[in-house]
Amino acid sequence: MSTHIGAQPGDIAPVVLMPGDPLRARWIAETSLDDAECYTEVRGMLGYTGTWNGHRVSVQGSGMGQPSLAIYANELFREYDVTTVVRVGSCGALTEKVAVRDLVIAAGACTDSSMNAIAFEGLHYAPVADFGLLRDAAAAAPEAHVGLIFSSDSFYSARPELVARMVDYGVLAVEMEAAALYTLAAKHGARALAICTVSDHVVTGEETTAQEREQTFGRMVEVALTAALG
Ligand code: ADE
Repeated sequence: MSTHIGAQPGDIAPVVLMPGDPLRARWIAETSLDDAECYTEVRGMLGYTGTWNGHRVSVQGSGMGQPSLAIYANELFREYDVTTVVRVGSCGALTEKVAVRDLVIAAGACTDSSMNAIAFEGLHYAPVADFGLLRDAAAAAPEAHVGLIFSSDSFYSARPELVARMVDYGVLAVEMEAAALYTLAAKHGARALAICTVSDHVVTGEETTAQEREQTFGRMVEVALTAALG
C-alpha cells in the first residue's frame, strides 16, 4: 500500500473518478459501476474499482482542499500508474450567468493556494485541464458551462471582495481542489479534468437540496465516465 491508500499495485484502474466526499465515492461505485470492490478504507477515504460499460475504472475520495487532494493524487500518479483523474465535485457559483444545479467544466483553475507559489518560487503557473478530456466532456454535456474556476484554500473567505474580483476576469465558480489536481497531473504526464455541479450560489445565497445534489451528481458522473472512457 502507499502511505494513505490501502491498495496493492494493480488494484486501482488507470482511470479514476475523484469526488471530495468519500461517501460520494461509495455512492458512485454502487450506482454507476458493475462489480465494484472497495480497495481502501484508510482514514475513511474510500476507494473502489469496478467496471463501466466493460472498462475498468476506480473511484477515490480526495477529501476537501488542495493539500488533501494532493496527497491522494500524488500517490495515485506515483505509485499506482494512474493516467487519468476526473474530479467530480461541487462548486459555488460566482456569477449570475451560472445557476444552482448547473454543471461547470473547468478549462483552467486560478488559485490563492500557496502550493504552486512555493513550487514555482514566485512564477505563476497556469493549471489547465487536459484538452481531450475537456473537449469530450463539453461534447457530452452541451448544457454545461466551460471556463475558469477559482480553487480557493478557504470555504469561508476572509476577503469575499477579492473572490468577486475574479468574476471580472471570467471566473465562473469557486471550489477548493482543481488547481492542485491539474498541476500534479501535468507534473506526472497524466490527464486531469474537474467537473463540478453548482451546490450553492455565492451571489444570490441560493442552495440546493440533498435530493437535487444527488440528481445533478448522477449527471456529472455520467459526463465524467463518457469523457474518460466513452
Ligand atoms: N464548494 C461548493 N461550494 C463552495 C463554495 N461556496 N466555496 C468553495 N467551495 C465550494
